[in-house]
Amino acid sequence: MALKSRHLLGLEGIERNDIELILNTARSFREVLDRPIKKVPTLQGQTVVNLFYESSTRTRISFELAEKRLSADAVNFSSSTSSVKKGETLVDTARNIEAMKIDTIVIRHSSPGAPHLLTKYLDSNIINAGDGAHEHPTQALLDLLTISEHHPKFEGLTVGIVGDISHSRVALSNIHGLKAMGAKIILCGPSTLIPREIDKLGVDISYNIDEVIENVDVLMALRIQLERQGTSFFPSLREYHNFFGITRERLEKANKPITIMHPGPINRGVEISSDVADSEHSVILDQVTNGVAIRMSVLYLLSGGQNVTEQN
Ligand code: CP
Repeated sequence: MALKSRHLLGLEGIERNDIELILNTARSFREVLDRPIKKVPTLQGQTVVNLFYESSTRTRISFELAEKRLSADAVNFSSSTSSVKKGETLVDTARNIEAMKIDTIVIRHSSPGAPHLLTKYLDSNIINAGDGAHEHPTQALLDLLTISEHHPKFEGLTVGIVGDISHSRVALSNIHGLKAMGAKIILCGPSTLIPREIDKLGVDISYNIDEVIENVDVLMALRIQLERQGTSFFPSLREYHNFFGITRERLEKANKPITIMHPGPINRGVEISSDVADSEHSVILDQVTNGVAIRMSVLYLLSGGQNVTEQN
């Protein structure tokens, strides 16, 4: 079985079979990461360029590690030290890099649709590593993999996503991915940070975090984007924490353990308290580990890979 597309631009419209293929392949690669020698020859001879126009810790390092674990040649591009500073366009930059004979471009960009644009001008495989407030598909896939390690089935599972839904590519990709897998989703946050008509995507909405906690198996906190403060989506960070912060006191009122997730970076004491972020029910660092396996899986499958066990 192979993926239907040679690009990964988003999870909107993705079929459940494709998600399951990516997750199953990632489970095989996850095992490679626990070996003393964490490397397989799967993508030997292939070149992947990580084209990052926005800052990143987890996604950039995770892709680079995934490429190295698969024996691909990994090249990092940072817009701040490139000829972008001299006015070169995204398409010109990408076409020049492609002229150096590469196979795959991983792109993070602040403009929604930047990865889609590259598919019109380039022959390389394109992977979206986050495009503005649009999608972050590999984040949602690593979230699905992490959830599956703690909950046997997505059907019957309820996932709460709490925070700045309006500006979150993580929320949108998770909505598409979780829906495709059959989970129920409740979005929660200040009304100013929940887009109108998002219920048309088949999600529930609540403005009461305590009510959400009563009804979910998994709770995903989103980063409050401190760089957007000053635009008054809510009165203060203290008030946000009081109304929507995930705290131990709130979680103790639930009658079951809830799996706690966060894509990072965390604002401790704002969207999540430190003791919850570091608690036994937090899988935040597992998400990061699984990110390498998911990115190995996506790189492998987009390059035409089918049967991962033969490669290992
Ligand atoms: N989760 C995530 O995308 O983190 P980075 O911005 O550090 O890559």
